[in-house]
Amino acid sequence: MTFTPRVFSGIQPSGDLHLGNYLGAIRRFVPLQDTHDCIYCVVDMHAITVWQDPDDLRRATREVAAAYVAAGIDPKRAIIFNQSQVIQHAELAWVFNCIARIGWMNRMTQFKDKAGKNSENVSLGLLAYPSLMAADILLYKATHVPVGDDQKQHLELTRDIAAKFNNDYAASIAAQGHDGEFFPITEPLIAGPATRIMSLRDGTKKMSKSDPSDQSRISLLDDADAIARKIRKATTDPAELPHDIEGLSSRPEADNLVGIYAALSDRTKAQVLAEFGGKGWGTFKPALADLAVAVLGPMGDEMRRLIEDTTTIDAILRDGAERARVIAEATMVDVRSIVGFIR
Ligand code: TYM
Repeated sequence: MTFTPRVFSGIQPSGDLHLGNYLGAIRRFVPLQDTHDCIYCVVDMHAITVWQDPDDLRRATREVAAAYVAAGIDPKRAIIFNQSQVIQHAELAWVFNCIARIGWMNRMTQFKDKAGKNSENVSLGLLAYPSLMAADILLYKATHVPVGDDQKQHLELTRDIAAKFNNDYAASIAAQGHDGEFFPITEPLIAGPATRIMSLRDGTKKMSKSDPSDQSRISLLDDADAIARKIRKATTDPAELPHDIEGLSSRPEADNLVGIYAALSDRTKAQVLAEFGGKGWGTFKPALADLAVAVLGPMGDEMRRLIEDTTTIDAILRDGAERARVIAEATMVDVRSIVGFIR
């Protein structure tokens, strides 16, 4: 069976959005609108796998929606919505909880990192998180999922769940009149110079919402002064910039800053080094700060304006949810009868 090309991706409303979320995900969502049907979700049900204060969750949900729009996603062309408004996500996730194996979940590095030594005492939802993620994607039979590198293992698991469902229910799928596979085997889109943006304090650690140091990340709501200050203070080694990519190999901080410059200017790292190779940080950091402020400044202003305009944001989410629900319900009508649920 051939599937219509369709893009799905999601972001958790669980803390301040940062430059890694922007370069690894949101910025890459924008051009896909020209070539694909796109569905961009604010995954509030994923967020509550760890405790979220309800007011903070509402604020963060609107913040992610505002970031989508401020970055250039057109809510009339793409679908923008929050997951909990389309209850079919929870319904399909339950079916997938019964398809996926506990051993698969226990192997997830993100679960192991988040649970730490405390794995008996985290929520059951945190363990089942990847199953809900598979439901997000497969409810829309999405063929392509743009994400940062840290989501790669979850997408492999999504493929495993799709394949096992297709296989376990093959006879029923055929009996319902579908030819071949029911769910697509989704392709991850993990490419470009910014698939893994690192902390500004430590080039070996991922830039993350949960890092206790605010200096480690650039928030999308930081003002120009904060952006410039964080870049100026970013940890670096003393050497000047190399002339080619190989010269970045054992220099994680330099590699990270060159990658950020490349992603913000839609260039490759090699092109950036062709311009800055042989120059010192005294030249590169101010150029990077100017570029970051020029790109992130106007977007932050627009985000702040939209976050205040809750009527507009909530209407975008409601309209998106209505359109998403139509696609999601069509899939669930088939899934229910494939599984054997009577309606
Ligand atoms: P989340 O909310 O942690 O991150 C959102 C997106 O930002 C990317 N990202 C990064 N990219 C580059 N460098 C970084 N330092 C960095 N930090 C985060 C993430 O890879 C992601 O693309 N499980 C997902 C949310 C999700 C989802 C989905 C994604 C739920 N359902 C379905 C795709 C499809 C997550 O926690 O992303």
